Amino acid sequence: MFYNRLSIKALVITLLCAELCYAQNPNNLKLREDNIDEIISAMTLEEKAHLLVGGDGTTSDVPNVAGYTYAIPRLGIPMTVLSDGPAGLGLEPKREGTDQTFYCTGFPTSTAIASSWDVDMVEEMTRAMGNEVLEYGVDVLLAPGMNIHRNPLCGRNFEYYSEDPVLSGKIAAAYVRGVQSNGVGCSVKHFAGNNQETNRHENDARIGERALREIYLRNFEIAIRESHPWAVMSSYNKINGEYSQQSYRLLTTILRGDWGFQGIVMTDWGRKEGTVRAVKAGNDLMEPGFKIEAERIVAAVEKGEISQEELDRNVRRMLEYIVKTPHFRKYRYSNKPDLKAHAAMARKAAEESIVLLRNKNSTLPLKGNEKIALYGMNSVDFVGIGTGSGEVYTEHVANMQEALTEAGFALDEDLADFYNSCFAVQNAKERMDGIATDRRHRSEPEISIQAIERQAQVNDVAVVVLGRIAGEYADRVFHDDFLLSDIEMELLQNVSMVYHKEGKKVVMVLNIVGVIETASWKNLVDAIVLPWAPGQEGAHAIADVLKGKVNPSGKLPTTFPINYMDIPSSKNFPYRWNTNGKKGERRNIDFTEYEESFWVGYRYFQTNKVEVSYPFGFGLSYTSFEYGKPTVKTTSDGFTTSLTVKNTGKVTGREVVELYVAAPSGELGKPARELKAFAKTKLLAPGESETLTMKISTYELASFNETNNTWETAAGIYQLLFGASVNDIRRTTSFKMNKKAMTEVETSPCLPNQ
Ligand code: BGC
Repeated sequence: MFYNRLSIKALVITLLCAELCYAQNPNNLKLREDNIDEIISAMTLEEKAHLLVGGDGTTSDVPNVAGYTYAIPRLGIPMTVLSDGPAGLGLEPKREGTDQTFYCTGFPTSTAIASSWDVDMVEEMTRAMGNEVLEYGVDVLLAPGMNIHRNPLCGRNFEYYSEDPVLSGKIAAAYVRGVQSNGVGCSVKHFAGNNQETNRHENDARIGERALREIYLRNFEIAIRESHPWAVMSSYNKINGEYSQQSYRLLTTILRGDWGFQGIVMTDWGRKEGTVRAVKAGNDLMEPGFKIEAERIVAAVEKGEISQEELDRNVRRMLEYIVKTPHFRKYRYSNKPDLKAHAAMARKAAEESIVLLRNKNSTLPLKGNEKIALYGMNSVDFVGIGTGSGEVYTEHVANMQEALTEAGFALDEDLADFYNSCFAVQNAKERMDGIATDRRHRSEPEISIQAIERQAQVNDVAVVVLGRIAGEYADRVFHDDFLLSDIEMELLQNVSMVYHKEGKKVVMVLNIVGVIETASWKNLVDAIVLPWAPGQEGAHAIADVLKGKVNPSGKLPTTFPINYMDIPSSKNFPYRWNTNGKKGERRNIDFTEYEESFWVGYRYFQTNKVEVSYPFGFGLSYTSFEYGKPTVKTTSDGFTTSLTVKNTGKVTGREVVELYVAAPSGELGKPARELKAFAKTKLLAPGESETLTMKISTYELASFNETNNTWETAAGIYQLLFGASVNDIRRTTSFKMNKKAMTEVETSPCLPNQ
């Protein structure tokens, strides 16, 4: 009897539930690509609010990633999975309850791949990266990062490409195309003005309109227009007093209105107060998502602060995103991407990205049978990638000891043992002190001059590997970071003196995540190889460059200045110590004045003839190239230019040609020259040539006139400068713009209804 009463009660409840569900979803409606409006009508306010706020992922088949979206099973809306990049997919390699591992490939970091100036290679590389995203069950890769290298001390510069918006935008576009060719998405970040890590959540980047448009937004604009990313991640910081994630002007007027962006905007990971403003601004997804944010949305809709149209606009964009995802398609991922093939791709990418900065008397390539004295802690503790969310958990990162050995060089074994034991001791000490080893760059052990003298007698050449590591949360500092430390300098001086006395060469490898000072020591060494942080296989690529198996073809995406204070932004960048070694005042924390305006990087150095250590676009080769006479053809919208590059040296190699334009100033002051396009030859055998063609539109030639919010292409003569670097122009020609062209942009500095 008792049981009967219970089962009748259960039956009644079941029927009531079924009735409720039926009432809410009478036709058992499920999300399809073509019924988004119907789904929106069937959603409750709470469901809509939740869809705009990240889910907790507790039921996810891919655990512990950066973020998830909220699932609504009754309407067939799946959870989707978001995980970090940009140097590869950021997944925890081990999971509870299984012995299977989930390692990903560590590709070269962003600054490294930008040094390749090779959009095809980048697209090929990220096709492989995107395959890991797909095969590990992730829907969106939170990458690429593409903030401008405003200052070398920004802790995340390795996740970003360049000081130049055209190079940055084109490489980012190639990156997105490659990843997204797998049917997964990219979230381009951090939009915008996130050029320092110090107080990144609250810092107000005070950027003039022209600098914003021409430098800090231009790269995003190129990437959006040329690759259609599924998502954009708004940055933590404010721009001119308004949080990026809450700026209608940035996220709707400019991003969607001016540039035609069709995807979703998500916040960077946090919890800001202004959820309502963010929704209204066109920020569709709050990540990682907190209950309070959904509650705020519900309350604001009920009070009429968020209109039904605004709510549904964002919900529609979320649904349009969801129907594209592998989770929606119920893609059966394998959890077994071809890591071996991808490692080979990572190595190839690193080979294309290495920059040869110095090669006195053709020190490199080596013959290949030398005995090498390998110095520097980073020869053992090689920096493949940086730290923070940009880190990738790879099964293995090759170091220089193993790479040089594998390439057939003999190493000084005593020296190798010495560094291995120093590394073991430092590691153990840091573990005891509770310091995460990955947050530090290595302190070099002292080596006596007598020891160096002994080593110089029994080895043929010295290779010194110095490194720098950095990452999210902190900016780099001036002493012992931008500058070499005293002990690094002493090592270099001693090695240089002793080996040169023996008639032997010294090669420097810069395994660094960002620009360092080079002017004071570069003449101490015979060759400098700059691989940046070149990923898990990068050490092998360096060995191949040293051996001559690979002819370096990378060029600098960012200037190496002589002094830190030569950099225009250095007066307005937070760093904890002044250049005199004293503790500095706390400036540029709450706000940062971008006083230098658009005079960023070479735009400043080159126009003002400020000498630099290595200019933008610079990189040597083992061969030489001749640039032929360029031709120009006017098109209906700009011009096309071609020139033939010939390998005039003795080895096969590739050359990057950089096209700078010196524009007539019109009414606006302009940099003396600006990069507008670039192209890279295929591998050219000695004597072989290739004709490169570059196309530039009138719009791309324009400067931004902030007095009338118009992109203006002045009438007059445009000098086209074909350079091997910004300071090494090999050929010039010109193009005439007969009349001034103007493109007005939409402007709405305020939120609607305010
Ligand atoms: C970083 C983003 C990253 C996110 C998720 C944030 O702290 O700024 O770049 O995508 O975390 O891990």
